[in-house]
Amino acid sequence: AAAGLRDQFGRVARDLRVSVTDRCNLRCTYCMPAEGLPWMPQAEMLSDEEMLRLIGLFVRDGVTQVRLTGGEPLLRRSLVDLVAGIASLEPRPRIAMTTNGVGLDRIAHRLAAAGLDRVNVSLDTIDSETFTRLTRRDRLPDVELGLKAAADAGLTPVKVNAVAMRGVNDQSVADVLQWCLERGYELRFIEQMPLDAQHAWDRGDMVTADEVRATLSKRFSLTPLPAVERGSAPAERFLVDGGPQTVGIIASVTAPFCGACDRTRLTADGQVRNCLFSRTETDLRTPMREGASDDELLDLMRGEMWRKRRGHGIGDPGFVQPDRPMSAIGG
Ligand code: GTP
Ligand code: 5AD
Ligand code: SF4
Repeated sequence: AAAGLRDQFGRVARDLRVSVTDRCNLRCTYCMPAEGLPWMPQAEMLSDEEMLRLIGLFVRDGVTQVRLTGGEPLLRRSLVDLVAGIASLEPRPRIAMTTNGVGLDRIAHRLAAAGLDRVNVSLDTIDSETFTRLTRRDRLPDVELGLKAAADAGLTPVKVNAVAMRGVNDQSVADVLQWCLERGYELRFIEQMPLDAQHAWDRGDMVTADEVRATLSKRFSLTPLPAVERGSAPAERFLVDGGPQTVGIIASVTAPFCGACDRTRLTADGQVRNCLFSRTETDLRTPMREGASDDELLDLMRGEMWRKRRGHGIGDPGFVQPDRPMSAIGG
C-alpha cells in the first residue's frame, strides 16, 4: 500500500493533526461556554495503543508531521508516552504540539526528551485582566512560565498564536508583538473563524488580517517574506523592522489557503476529518475495535481524504458551521 492520502483536487495530506482530548482547563469565550461542554465518554476515546496504530498508518501513507492538539493536549495523562511512541515510528515524523501553555513548565523537558520537536502556544493578550476575562481563568503567569520552559527545552521555534478580537486585543496587537520579540517567540495573529460553541461568530465584526497589519505598521515596519517560502503554511510572514524576527498573519477567512492545504485530522474518539470544516467524518474506531486490518483502515483514511472539498466555504450562502465544537476537532 503506497497510494497516499490524496483528494480530487490534487492535494496530498502530509500533516496530521491529532486531537488527544476534548477537555480543556481554560474557557476561552470564543471556544467554550463557561460551564464547559459535554466531554467525550472515556470508552469512546482511543487508547494510546489505538492512537499509535492509526498514526503509524497515516505515517506509512505519507504523513511527515504529526501535531498534537486538543482541547488541551497537556490534559492527556499519557502524553509523554504518546510522544515517545510517535517518535519511534518509521520513518519518524516531525512532532509538534499546539497548547494553551498552562502546566507546560512542568513537562516541557520530558516532552522534549520523548521526542517533541516544537510547540505553538495560544496567547491572545499579555494583559492579565484581559487574559482572565477572555479565558475565564487567572492563569497568565502559568502561560508565561510555560513559554519560557518550552524555549529552555529547545522546543523551537516557539510560536505564539493570537486570535484577533474586536474590543479585546485589536488595539494592543503591537504590545503583544513587542513582548514576543523581546522573548524570541514567533508571533502569529489569526483571523477568527466560525468555530465557537455558541455560534456567535459574525464576519462583519471579525478583525481582518489587513487591519492587524495596518495597526502593527504604526509601530513596526513589516516586509513580506517571499510567497515561495510559505509552502502550505497558514501564516503569511513579515520581517519586523528588517528582521531577522518575523510576525505572521493567518488570514483563514479573507485569504483562504485551502488550495495548498496538506492537512488531515484524527479526533480523540477515532474519527478522521478531512478539513476543519468537513461535513463528513470517517469512523476508524469501530472497525479497528472489530478487528479491521491495516489495509482496511488505510482504505477508510484514503476515502475520507478523497471527499475533501475544495475550500472551507466560509461566507458562501450554504455554509454551515461544523457540528463538532472546535475543542473536539483540534483547531
Ligand atoms: P505551524 O506548522 O507551526 O505553522 O502550525 P499551524 O499554524 O498549522 O497550527 P496551529 O495549531 O498553531 O494553528 C494556528 C491557526 O491556524 C489556528 O487558528 C488554527 O485553527 C488554524 N489552522 C490550522 N490548520 C488549519 C487549516 O487546515 N485550515 C484553516 N483554515 N485553519 C487552520
Ligand atoms: N478561529 C481561529 N482560531 C481559533 N483558535 C481557537 N478558536 C479559533 C477560531 N474560532 C485557535 C486557538 C489555537 C489554535 C489551535 O486555534 O487559539 O491557537
Ligand atoms: Fe484545509 Fe479545510 Fe483548513 Fe481549508 S479550511 S486549509 S481545506 S483544513
